[in-house]
Amino acid sequence: MAVTASAPGKLLLLGDHAVVYDRPCLVTAVDIRYQASISKQDDSTIEIDTPELRQQAKTYRISAQHPGKHYTKETAFVEAAIAQVFREYDLQSGLSVVTQGPVVSYGLGSSSAITVAAVAALSSLFDLRLDKAELFRVAYAAVLDVQGTGSGFDVASAVYGRTVYFVTGGATIEPLPVDSLPFVIGYSGEKVSTTNLVGEVRKLRERQPAIVNRMFGVSREIVDSGKEQLLNGDWSAFGDLMNLHQGLLDAWGVNTLQLATLIAAARDAGALGAKLSGAGGGDCMFAVGDGEKRVAVEQAVRDAGGEVVDVALNAEGVQLL
Ligand code: PMV
Repeated sequence: MAVTASAPGKLLLLGDHAVVYDRPCLVTAVDIRYQASISKQDDSTIEIDTPELRQQAKTYRISAQHPGKHYTKETAFVEAAIAQVFREYDLQSGLSVVTQGPVVSYGLGSSSAITVAAVAALSSLFDLRLDKAELFRVAYAAVLDVQGTGSGFDVASAVYGRTVYFVTGGATIEPLPVDSLPFVIGYSGEKVSTTNLVGEVRKLRERQPAIVNRMFGVSREIVDSGKEQLLNGDWSAFGDLMNLHQGLLDAWGVNTLQLATLIAAARDAGALGAKLSGAGGGDCMFAVGDGEKRVAVEQAVRDAGGEVVDVALNAEGVQLL
């Protein structure tokens, strides 16, 4: 019997980059979901089948004794999830793993979502009864094993869903009672890797530690105030905070001409705020598009060459199907 779990992608609202350095962020889950279906097999082989591998008519096989020794690009996060669960709970078994999810996810989907779905499916398959905090801890360790860096915000978003106030490594994970979020998301195109962009900000911080650390402190103030404004539904104040945070991201060198163009277009069309989301260097921006302004903001993003991504926000966290 296969056990299936699904987990959502994410949109980072405020706190991008500073959240790598013990500062908070706000993240909402997006309804772009990733699924992992896992069953036990009698032999000592782990078979992994992903959408990308299916396109190439391939299945990936590894020995159940040594999962996670050398990761293969297409299956790294699933392998890491299995290796982490087997290591922590002293398990070994042949497995068949089938994953599903959109190949194109605008940078909103995440490797963390597939990792969390895999850990949740394994927890159920081996009756480990991991609660949300444990799911986060195990999935975050797996993600770090593959990526080396990362605050874990995307892992927390995949586990808890909805909208979360998060501090680096899960030091705080506070789900927020938010009903709806009036954001328009615009996709600017491909980006360079998150790891490279995090590396560039790290180098800037090494060159200018005092100033960059103070800016990280400002990011914390923006996020803490943003949390209050989200809870109040004060989109005008939240928009101000988005614009202020965009100023920081610009100063850290992660903006691109295309992102800047979409952000300016959204603001010109009356958006109360607009900023990039995530590492920068491409992927998505988002803007406040509340009430009757929404249509104008969406049109402005399209006219400026962006693709409006129509996806529900504040989505549910990981679920067993
Ligand atoms: O570009 P994304 O969606 O992978 O987001 C990266 C966000 C960073 O703050 C730059 C890194 C992190 O792990 O928090």
